[in-house]
Amino acid sequence: MLERLNEIEAAALEALESVKDDEALQAWRVAHVGRSAPIKMVYKEFGKLSKEERPAVGKRANEVKVALEAALTERAEAIKTAELARSLEEDHLDVTLPGRPVRHGGIHPATQTLRRILTILADMGFQVYTSREVESDEYNFQHLNFPVGHPAREMQDSFYVEGGKEDNPLLMRTHTSPGQIRAMREFAAESPENPPSIRISLPGMCYRYEQITSRSEIQFNQVEGLAVGENITFSDLKGTLNDFARRMFGQHARTRFRAQHFPFTEPSAEMDVECFLCEGEGCSVCKKSGWLEILGCGMVHPNVLQAGGYDPRRYTGFAFGMGPERQAMLRHNIKDIRYFWGNDARFLEQF
Ligand code: DAH
Repeated sequence: MLERLNEIEAAALEALESVKDDEALQAWRVAHVGRSAPIKMVYKEFGKLSKEERPAVGKRANEVKVALEAALTERAEAIKTAELARSLEEDHLDVTLPGRPVRHGGIHPATQTLRRILTILADMGFQVYTSREVESDEYNFQHLNFPVGHPAREMQDSFYVEGGKEDNPLLMRTHTSPGQIRAMREFAAESPENPPSIRISLPGMCYRYEQITSRSEIQFNQVEGLAVGENITFSDLKGTLNDFARRMFGQHARTRFRAQHFPFTEPSAEMDVECFLCEGEGCSVCKKSGWLEILGCGMVHPNVLQAGGYDPRRYTGFAFGMGPERQAMLRHNIKDIRYFWGNDARFLEQF
């Protein structure tokens, strides 16, 4: 009987050698440790043994059973490991390879400049007021003193959108200035008899129906500034914008104001800063003039104050408007405005 146990063990272990997958392993389990496996037969025949034989055979039979079960567990582990190795090999997944670099996003150069402008204005007491991008003709033009048919509208060809009225069509705002009217009306509504003074910045995207060239786009950002109160003068406008220029372009930035015309301000001006690339010497960016045009500004026109609910006999104010893309172009010497919305990562990654 002991001899038979040795044979059972040897046969089972030998058969296990050729077991290479789960399916074969299950078959082996049934055949060699299952209910009708040879080792189980030995247990059944135990009763037939003589009293003397029983202890030795019993001990040996247990050893074989434990050995076979241990061999089964070991083989199961080996199959699992082999399976993993095979899938690593076949799926060509090398877990030791370094990962692919993740591309980090960044803040768009126009947004960077926009935020810088807003931060400086905020330090100077101008609170951000956001206004809508779809505007009515009334707000975008009429309340800003561009009557229907006014020639200045020519400079701001518009994208019209559906849903407006015949005498007041809807359009994509061509500048941030209509936000002036919306803000004044909202502030004035707080106390119509005694409207509070205002100091706000109005940032946002504007749209014009233009030929796209290296110098003009159909969409661009603007930042508008508006201050309204009693006794605000043109000196306040100049002082504020000179201070802004020094914070934006450096402590020694020189400025000059040139007369201009805008329907919604009177008088109106444009502010230039001394070219920060050549320091006034004259270069290709400032077109040899030594000056860069930065913004439009002026004293808020009485009609505009009136439209906003502020009595022009009591209140005055100043306003200004500038383009972050233009400033970013000047600062970084970007020659073509189309890069801004071209979505080319090679351009955007440089900022
Ligand atoms: N809205 C003008 C434009 O888009 C820019 C501008 C000029 C805004 C003078 C102002 C201003 O507030 O006072 O061309």
